[in-house]
Amino acid sequence: MAFMYISIQLFLIQILILVAKSKAKVPALIVFGDSTVDTGNNNQIPTIAKSNFEPYGRDFLGGRPTGRFSNGRVATDFFSEAFGIKPTVPAYLDPTYNISDFATGVCFASAGAGYDNATSDVLGVIPLWKEVEYYKEYQKKLKEYAGEEKANEIIREALYLVSIGTNDFLENYYIFPDRKSQFTIRQYEDFLIGIARNFIQDLYGLGARKIYLAGVPPMGCLPLERTMNIMDFHGCVEEFNNLALDFNGKLEGLVAKLSKELPDLVLLFADIYSILQQIITRPSKYGMEVVEVGCCGTGRFEMSYLCDPQSPLTCTDANKYVFWDAFHPSEKTSQIISNHLFKKGLAKFL
Ligand SMILES: *[C@@H]1O[C@H](CO)[C@@H](O)[C@H](O)[C@H]1NC(C)=O
Ligand SMILES: *[C@@H]1O[C@H](CO)[C@@H](O)[C@H](O)[C@H]1NC(C)=O
Repeated sequence: MAFMYISIQLFLIQILILVAKSKAKVPALIVFGDSTVDTGNNNQIPTIAKSNFEPYGRDFLGGRPTGRFSNGRVATDFFSEAFGIKPTVPAYLDPTYNISDFATGVCFASAGAGYDNATSDVLGVIPLWKEVEYYKEYQKKLKEYAGEEKANEIIREALYLVSIGTNDFLENYYIFPDRKSQFTIRQYEDFLIGIARNFIQDLYGLGARKIYLAGVPPMGCLPLERTMNIMDFHGCVEEFNNLALDFNGKLEGLVAKLSKELPDLVLLFADIYSILQQIITRPSKYGMEVVEVGCCGTGRFEMSYLCDPQSPLTCTDANKYVFWDAFHPSEKTSQIISNHLFKKGLAKFL
């Protein structure tokens, strides 16, 4: 009897899932941001912010480097799969894809980019405003390909994922004197928030109605920042973690305000910080072991061209590492983060 009850319950749950899936109206993922979500755009531009060589991508489908800053897939790929769309999100500038691929998912992100134009200038990558220009071009192609009405439906029902901000602080403000001489760190945060506001309003103006805006991670716990912390290699840089929390608070405030100001917009904040901090604090709970260094090379400073294909020091099992290189999460970490966010945030987009 009990067994019967359980199997009926299971059956009902399965039906519920099927109904939820058929109602799931997210026909496409549209991605903006930096190296956390770039799936290969930088391969096509002259910059040193690249990762289209080994050992990057060694655990990717087919074991090949793609320009993702990971041993495998990045969080947005897992999102796409979770929405039942496809296992990866192609890069807009990748010539091996065309609009028939991009109609269900497209990535405009560029490794090294920031909210601030000056940040993207540091490594000569695609600035955020240019990502938006590419998106406008995409809309035109989509209308030619799918017809005006269908294209407008995709634009309206698509989920827009945005992950950017860390480079503004770690690649720009704290390294170069320009912004530091103009702004205190709190003023700089507000300057970035102003850009974020305009960016979201622009996307809204172009037809976006479902936007998931990621905050910044515990920046002081990235292996590279630990390495720079010469007083204490093992500790996170508290100053950078506090900054991340402060900036995320302002982003959440912006999300709340814009949600009120812009009708029909579902705008949600993705709290990357908390879940990544949980993984860093208790890696064993997630089946991982190494937190302080990345898998590639010594794990202390290697990324991009410094992540050397010949390095004998690169770890054999990246799944045991929270970080793949000195700045970017391993595929395993990206998967845990996206599963977590999917469960927490997804329902509201359906
Ligand atoms: C896109 O590429 C595929 C093959 O890769 C081709 O069959 C298709 O016709 C192309 N579509 C467009 C709209 O160019
Ligand atoms: C960034 O550059 C673009 C293109 O030059 C410009 O339109 C935009 O106003 C700039 N953004 C800021 C915040 O200065």
